[in-house]
Amino acid sequence: MSGFWSAYVAILSIGCWVFVTGALIFTLRLRPELDEQGTTGHEYDGIYENDNPMPRWWLIVFWATIVWAVVYFALYPALGNFKGFATIERLDGSKVNWTSVNEMQNQYDRNNKVFLDNFDKEFRALDVAALAQNPKALKAGQGIFLQNCSICHGTNAKGALGYPNLTDNDWLYGGTPDKIVETITKGRTGGMPTWQATLGEDGVKAATQYVLSLSKPAGITINPVLAAQGAVLFKENCAVCHGPDGKGSQSVGAPNLTDNTWLYGGTVADVEKTIRLGRAGKMPAWEHMLGAERIKLVAAYVYSQTH
Ligand code: HEC
Ligand code: HEC
Repeated sequence: MSGFWSAYVAILSIGCWVFVTGALIFTLRLRPELDEQGTTGHEYDGIYENDNPMPRWWLIVFWATIVWAVVYFALYPALGNFKGFATIERLDGSKVNWTSVNEMQNQYDRNNKVFLDNFDKEFRALDVAALAQNPKALKAGQGIFLQNCSICHGTNAKGALGYPNLTDNDWLYGGTPDKIVETITKGRTGGMPTWQATLGEDGVKAATQYVLSLSKPAGITINPVLAAQGAVLFKENCAVCHGPDGKGSQSVGAPNLTDNTWLYGGTVADVEKTIRLGRAGKMPAWEHMLGAERIKLVAAYVYSQTH
């Protein structure tokens, strides 16, 4: 906090405390003069004002809050830049000042240690394929998936437009345990270039007809002349990534174009858009967010969807 704001907070807090304590002492000392009936003489519509002491329980609570404020100011970093006397004992036995951030970090570290101890005991020795057969590991993996992955891949892992379905055994980057772990750990970025400049609008339309002719989705009539032109363009421009037969390549994450499973949609308009503008789906890297152990568990959950 800057000097100005720490002074602002300190003056406001201490000022408040002094005012409240002063007001209490002041009222306790007031001794109004009473008439012979024991009233203050104030009368409103036949109702007289007495001078009864404040209820004892109320006074006790009031004093308690005043004392508590002093204790609180001393323990916690509530006053400007004063750090407070309260400390937190870290896992390694060292002590740090209490702050909400330190408190959260400490609880995180302690929970993480419990997690890692359990992981060592039950899961460390198993590989991803074995974990995918282990109900306890799967439950943990599913929990991690729901928290971190479902926002893009869906709660059932079936994906959405632009976010791959992880349950269909159709892999962009490969579905072996190693490949899944690699994808999650390092992240992936799809690199489908834009073709509108290279191919022109006619070329985009022709390439689209050829691509759709590879899987012949129901309800789409292929124009054979355009498809034949597209086949030539495909060989020249696309086969390097999608393969000469259009079956894709997992080393560059180029999808199989022959299986009628579409990451970005399989209508004429969708495919044209993909080819015209390119695509760059981004799977985030999780190595720092989750760590190797949680990645192993969530990879087992993903692997179990197809095994
Ligand atoms: C911000 C959205 C997002 C989140 C969150 C996300 N992913 Fe992904 N994921 C993607 C996208 C997009 C792709 C496809 C990348 C591409 O198009 O090249 C992908 C690809 C994948 C693949 C590769 C699929 C294949 O066919 O090869 C796996 C496996 C995967 N994600 C698992 C996970 C797991 C496990 C998590 C949680 C730890 C996760 N993802 C979280 C967006 C996300
Ligand atoms: C440099 C490699 C590369 C080249 C060259 C390339 N693509 Fe792609 N293509 C990709 C990648 C990678 C993806 C997946 C993008 C993503 O995951 O975000 C993709 C995605 C696609 C898709 C979407 C598939 C789906 O499931 O929705 C179509 C269609 C496509 N490419 C067609 C073509 C055509 C036609 C050409 C040639 C004119 C071409 N690509 C050239 C790498 C390439």
